[in-house]
Amino acid sequence: MTTATTDPVRLPPGPRAPKVLQGLGMVAIQSSMLTALSKRYGSAFTLNVPLFGRMVILSSPSDIKELFSSSRELIGRPKKNLSAILGEGSVFALEGDELLARRRLLLPPFNGKSMRSYETITEAEVRSELSTWPEGVEFETLEPMMRISLNTILRAVFGAEGAELEEMRTLMPAAVEFGSRIALLPEVFRRDVGRWSPGGHFAQYRRRMDDLIAKLISDARADPDFDDRQDVLTLLLRTRYDDGTPISDQHIADELLTLLVAGHETTSSQLSWVIERVRRHPELLARLTEEADAGGSELLRATIQEVQRTRPVLTASLRRTRTRVQLGEWVIPEDTTVMGALHLAMTSADSFPEPEKFNPDRFLGANPNPFAYVPFGGGMNRCIGASFASMEMEVAVRAILREFRIEPTDAADERPFNRGVSIVPNKGGRVVVHRRKTPAAKPRSASVSAEQRSS
Ligand code: HEM
Repeated sequence: MTTATTDPVRLPPGPRAPKVLQGLGMVAIQSSMLTALSKRYGSAFTLNVPLFGRMVILSSPSDIKELFSSSRELIGRPKKNLSAILGEGSVFALEGDELLARRRLLLPPFNGKSMRSYETITEAEVRSELSTWPEGVEFETLEPMMRISLNTILRAVFGAEGAELEEMRTLMPAAVEFGSRIALLPEVFRRDVGRWSPGGHFAQYRRRMDDLIAKLISDARADPDFDDRQDVLTLLLRTRYDDGTPISDQHIADELLTLLVAGHETTSSQLSWVIERVRRHPELLARLTEEADAGGSELLRATIQEVQRTRPVLTASLRRTRTRVQLGEWVIPEDTTVMGALHLAMTSADSFPEPEKFNPDRFLGANPNPFAYVPFGGGMNRCIGASFASMEMEVAVRAILREFRIEPTDAADERPFNRGVSIVPNKGGRVVVHRRKTPAAKPRSASVSAEQRSS
């Protein structure tokens, strides 16, 4: 168990290369650099990088368990994060008791009975997107997957329809992309000093986004079916903190944008990785198609899990020590960034035999160690949309398998490319599809329970 301590600092070993060089490595070749360092130093090592300073990297299941189970008084989140653009009402701006109280309100919408209605929305969005896919020509799946996950979030989470939905479809991705680029810049560059300054430009985006969300909120309140609505926006309007107070409208706006930033590109990137992987494994592709036609989902779920293990779109759970702590054998000083290295944890041979092999069967009928298999992070900051994302991925891949024959390929693997928010296949997850002549049989059940999905 992580404890506060006054013992002398004892950090894991690490490279002595200049800070700037270590920082460049983290930006340009993060995964391969961390893998190389873990071969040299083992599962724990220390880096020194610009912006974050000293950074302790952990990846053994026991250290990850300690990190994720640490009390919120001892370990919080890094100060540099997207809250600078998302606002003080975003979970990214919260830690300690405030974070716990907010998560208690945010988690139920993503795990309760509303999931069935989100599934119906996802199915409709996937069907509409697949109807436009060309046959017999190679194309990138990343953009189509982005459209599916954006539209699904805007409808299921924001409850947007009609004119607002139309405008948000183009406004939101542009605003989020611009915002993520300036989020980690020093505060002075983010100030609004006129519409041509980066801060001013983003403020314009933000005002328009806030106006649209304010309109969605007032429409939801005026809706005679308010009590029956299942979109996350309405669920957040209906919910109350333990002391009976509601979440303020501004905080709801901040939180919806947070969900969009955290859930849009991640899910779509992971979906393109599924396509990239299955095309290179024809036998698996045949088994998946057979299973989808028969209405099963077990191999599909195992395949998505294996894609998330071997091609994670986020590779780090970042934390910050709020005081000097003893974590495992290490004594880490106050205000130090600690990274749970998700990719390293999931490719460790101690946890996953033949870790480099893409083998979904390893997950069939198995319950992976929750501190070794960590695609959604863990503990106080575990991904809030894990069940939602798993549902979206299952629905989308199942529909693709039932609608199309995917051409296998012996082309070289696409390489991981860091796009800023998430890690994507460098050629966009290219695919060639042909519409199947015989429509596949109706699945036994399209619905999957939240417990089965979230791992
Ligand atoms: C395949 C898709 C996704 C992956 C791989 C993923 C992964 C992650 C990871 C690794 C974290 C950090 C966890 C930690 O620090 O321990 C995270 C946080 C988060 N995710 Fe996801 N995510 C996905 C989709 C989504 C979706 C669809 C939503 C919501 C609609 C969402 C909402 C969030 C939020 C709000 C956080 C911040 C939680 C906090 O810091 O307290 N994610 N996600």
